[in-house]
Amino acid sequence: MTSLALVFPARIDLFGDPKTLWFINRATGLVLLVLLTIVLVFGVLAARKSAGGKLPRFVSNEVHRGIALTAVIFLAIHVISAVLDDFVSIDLINIVVPWGSGWKPVWIGFGAVAVDLLIAVIVTSLLRNRMPESTWRLIHLSVFAMWPIAWIHALGSGTDAKSPAYLALSIVCALAVLAAALLRWFKPEPVPVPQEETRGTRSAHDGSSW
Ligand code: HEM
Repeated sequence: MTSLALVFPARIDLFGDPKTLWFINRATGLVLLVLLTIVLVFGVLAARKSAGGKLPRFVSNEVHRGIALTAVIFLAIHVISAVLDDFVSIDLINIVVPWGSGWKPVWIGFGAVAVDLLIAVIVTSLLRNRMPESTWRLIHLSVFAMWPIAWIHALGSGTDAKSPAYLALSIVCALAVLAAALLRWFKPEPVPVPQEETRGTRSAHDGSSW
């Protein structure tokens, strides 16, 4: 029995069906993976001055933040429904401490590692103004590790993971994340030329004395 089940001793049969929590868990997991993909892709675009060509940068920024907030809500529902579901033996602690759950410990453990990384990213983003930019950035970039770890968790523990529709969706998401990573590391934006330098170059070309 999980610790939450001790707080709610009656068996939680939402809408009179013991499977409701399981359905909620699966549905939120799936939506969560898509949301985290969107957050990551728009995060990469928002960090670029020329975000996606015609897309104004503030739009990418707003999408990045708004969807990130929504993802946190879905994550909360996903993990709480897993803990409350009596069919699987997952305790509150297993949300953040990996590889200790009574049900599929390895795969659920990957989920816990993803949650830990996400918590680090969220907390450092809230404290961004109080830490060196380089520290914030290093921790923020761990989303590129978090995403594949969550993906492995989903593939290993999900009921739907073997269905062609789920596989297709998760491959599309993986390709989107891969494209974002390639854009981030292999297509850096041209470094803006400092104004002094621009002046100097122009003066050299037009022959002026400064
Ligand atoms: C960022 C973190 C996480 C993400 C993105 C995520 C996402 C997913 C996805 C996409 C699935 C597959 C759903 C399906 O195939 O129907 C899944 C399954 C599952 N997740 Fe997570 N998850 C995360 C963390 C966790 C944690 C920490 C727990 C446990 C405390 C957990 C519990 C479960 C369970 C029990 C299933 C299996 C549902 C089933 O029986 O099909 N997840 N997760």
